[in-house]
This record gives sequence, C-alpha cells and structure tokens, in this order.
Amino acid sequence: MKILMVCLGNICRSPLAHGVLTYMASQDQLDWTVHSAGTGDWHVGQAPDRRAIAVAKKYGVDISHQRARHFIPEFFDQYDRIFVMDRQNMEDVLSLARNEEDRRKVSLFLEEDIVPDPYYDEEMFEPVYKMIEKRCHELVHVL
Ligand code: 4NP
Repeated sequence: MKILMVCLGNICRSPLAHGVLTYMASQDQLDWTVHSAGTGDWHVGQAPDRRAIAVAKKYGVDISHQRARHFIPEFFDQYDRIFVMDRQNMEDVLSLARNEEDRRKVSLFLEEDIVPDPYYDEEMFEPVYKMIEKRCHELVHVL
C-alpha cells in the first residue's frame, strides 16, 4: 500500500506522520510506502522544522533526511490513500482532484478531528506528536 500524508508546509505535521507510520509499518513488517507533501510550496526542498525533528528524535524516530515536496495532481495516481491534517488541506487537495476516484482516496488523518498546526506554537509539538503516534498505531491495524 502507498500512503501520502499531507499538511500545509510539509515541514511539521505531515513529516511527523510520514516518519512515525514508516517506522511502525516497518516494525510490523508491512510492505507499505509512506511519503508526505504540502499544499503550499514555500518550503520545498527543505528538511522538516527543527522542532519536529527534535520531538520525533525524542521518541526514536529520525525524520531529518526528509525533504519537503509540493502536492501535485499526479500524486493521486501514485498513492492509494491520501491523509490530510486539517480541513483547509482537505479543501486544497480536493480542489486538485480530477475525478471521483481521486476524491475517494482523500480522508482526514484523524477521521473526526484535525491535527492543529504547531508551526506558531512551540508547545504544540509534543501533543501533536502524541496525537499522530496514537493514530499511526491504529492505522497499522485498520488499513
Ligand atoms: P505544517 O506547518 O503545515 O504542519 O508543515 C506549517 C509550516 C509552515 C507554515 C505553515 C504551517 N508556513 O506558513 O510557512
């Protein structure tokens, strides 16, 4: 299965979800490919935010090698499932969908809730990490 995690900048939330799910899937020997992208292009080519790298490292997950990418419509062809972090991401990704099959691939990462953007609030990196970790733990069982 090929999974894409999407947020706005692709330097905080989606790199964490990318790193954590990759780590958990490999622990369970699942043949999954997990990548991430952002709906905005400001940070393309950059490593994740240092605060995201730090919180992941604290829990044993290395995301420092990741580089930000911009979401493009071709990603609908390359991935089976596309998980977005908030409702604006959902709107932006769906605006690029070409057909119903594309639209069906997109869902909120947390199903009923959003992952808050920690970019402007240092204190949010830890709770955001915990939220992402809990959901990734579920995903390795339900997908
Ligand atoms: P992310 O956080 O969407 O979780 O990667 C953000 C990163 C950068 C910006 C906004 C959100 N920014 O405006 O540059």
